[in-house]
Amino acid sequence: REVWVIVTAAGSGSRLGAEVPKALVPLGGHPALTRVLINLSQVEDVTGVIVTHPESQRELFAQAVPAQLPYAIHLVPGGVSRQASVYAALELLSEISPQSLVLVHDAARALTPPAVFERVIEGMLEGAVALVPALPVKDTIKQIRPEAAAEDFPLVLGSPNRDALRAAQTPQGFDFERLWAVHQKARDLSADEAKAAPDDAALMEAFDYPVRIVTGDELALKITTMVDLKLAEILAEEQPI
Ligand code: CTP
Ligand code: MG
Repeated sequence: REVWVIVTAAGSGSRLGAEVPKALVPLGGHPALTRVLINLSQVEDVTGVIVTHPESQRELFAQAVPAQLPYAIHLVPGGVSRQASVYAALELLSEISPQSLVLVHDAARALTPPAVFERVIEGMLEGAVALVPALPVKDTIKQIRPEAAAEDFPLVLGSPNRDALRAAQTPQGFDFERLWAVHQKARDLSADEAKAAPDDAALMEAFDYPVRIVTGDELALKITTMVDLKLAEILAEEQPI
């Protein structure tokens, strides 16, 4: 079965506030996206990769693609939200490989080790419907009302049992046909009812598909803020390529 990886890289990185799009931020001498594509070349069984890029920056992103990758590679313009970017990539995949397994991965998780991709692919080939790499949460989580978020001292409603919580990462694995179907349904709804889903697995959950956890990795951390970037830079120095 073909295995395709969608690498979402079309965001601007507004919370990071770097001078270049977040996916092109250098980490130990190589752009984040380049690191993802090189790590993917060490993953067995990858047929092809689809990268979503900011609409007006195709050339810049093409320059971050290493020559001679062992898999097919396509660049597609992303959309206004991550969900819309994934939709655009799935639309291409519906034309070129509709029977495939698909992994959806954030370029912002630039240091994700090949072993995480391999665990997800293996679980999918063994018959999982949807797999999310995740880790136990380190912080105690406090629940508040979303409407109170802007208050100075929002009231705590409770503290969910940490044993019942997992922090989700990517790559998330799916059967293409099912993921494409839920993305199309979500887009039909999105006009009025549906809010954007936090991730692809959440869309599958919303349509009652069984989503399961597979062990993630601390190195799959998402670069969101400057502190994350500083940490990733240090870690990248230990991963020469
Ligand atoms: N992404 C995308 N298309 C968008 C928005 C995000 O492909 N319209 C990608 C980002 O490039 C990133 C991943 O989705 O690799 C996770 O999103 P996030 O960390 O939120 O990145 P940004 O949206 O770029 O950052 P911010 O929210 O701070 O602007
Ligand atoms: Mg974002």
